[in-house]
Amino acid sequence: MTVTWEMPTGTAHAAVLGLGVHRAQRVVPNSEIVDAIDSSDEWIQQRSGIKERRWVGPEETLESMSLAAASQALADADVAAAQIDAVVLATCTNTQQITSLASRIAFLLGAESPAAFDISAACAGFCHALSLATDMVRGGTAKYVLVIGAERLSTLVSEKDRGTAFIFGDGAGAVVVGPSEVPGIGPVVWGSDGEQHSAIELSSDWVEAFEADATTLPHITMDGSAVFRWAAYEMAKVAQETLDRTGITVEDLDLFVPHQANMRITDTMVRAMKLPDHVRIARDIAEQGNTSAASIPLALARMYADGTACSGDLALFIAFGAGLTYAAQVVRVP
Ligand code: UT7
Repeated sequence: MTVTWEMPTGTAHAAVLGLGVHRAQRVVPNSEIVDAIDSSDEWIQQRSGIKERRWVGPEETLESMSLAAASQALADADVAAAQIDAVVLATCTNTQQITSLASRIAFLLGAESPAAFDISAACAGFCHALSLATDMVRGGTAKYVLVIGAERLSTLVSEKDRGTAFIFGDGAGAVVVGPSEVPGIGPVVWGSDGEQHSAIELSSDWVEAFEADATTLPHITMDGSAVFRWAAYEMAKVAQETLDRTGITVEDLDLFVPHQANMRITDTMVRAMKLPDHVRIARDIAEQGNTSAASIPLALARMYADGTACSGDLALFIAFGAGLTYAAQVVRVP
């Protein structure tokens, strides 16, 4: 006789129930960066839209930023740490890979033995984690999932690398995903183009660096033009596919919250998608820099703070980066 079993079933829908963020303390203006890369404030602003970025202060760590954002998200969602069934943390800058940062954060929050793991999908990590959380809630493997995107990119940036020194920032963002009676998170469109894996990567393997007696840490390298072309043109198609799969049009959107990679990429996507004027656009990069997996929650938080986003707005999230990886979904914001 064939052995069978029952599988858990969840709820029809999942939603984002609360948001929390932490911006790294140290404000680093372009003037602090330009000399080492023979650049200028004007060039950086014109090519990337960045005026300043946030880097960690002496007391801050990837863990402390993640914990701050996660605590806020739980409070905002009115969900206790003990109710969390899973912690999914997206990062590509956890330099202490063993253990996962997610399990440390779960412990520090006082969660009761949740599943806890990190995922690595670089700048697309937050949207990947959000999609996993949605499926976990809908599949019945978790009721409440804490999703965190956290990065400390300043540690892995060479101050002398002209193509990256001015781009990256540090911070963390978190959301709580839980059951909902109405759709709150739409179907994901995600994928990767591994052929372009070297377009953004670490300059060397940690062990190779150690064996070569390196005196500096490996650092991020990027073929900026290749990534720019891919992001600006291919991602507009992914955005449209996401709206089509959700069954809505650009007219239905209130917010466009793309990964904060470069203001010109955002502008190119807005034009390619023909976003109507009523859609409010996240432009957090100007003051925060590109924070990879943390950029979408940080950008959304700024929109609440300056009054451009309201609870219940319909947003398109789209993230893309090293891998190359991408993921997008429509979200009813909390
Ligand atoms: O989050 C992960 C995903 N990342 C991204 O999506 C980033 C995508 N790429 C970019 O954002 C852009 O490629 C950058 C902002 C990194 C660079 O902008 P760009 O317009 O693509 O510049 P470029 O590399 O094509 O360089 C243009 C010119 C060159 O000079 P020539 O050959 O035209 O004389 C460079 O040598 O600008 C020069 N240049 C600089 N000048 C001053 C390159 N870097 C710098 C610099 N300061 N830092």
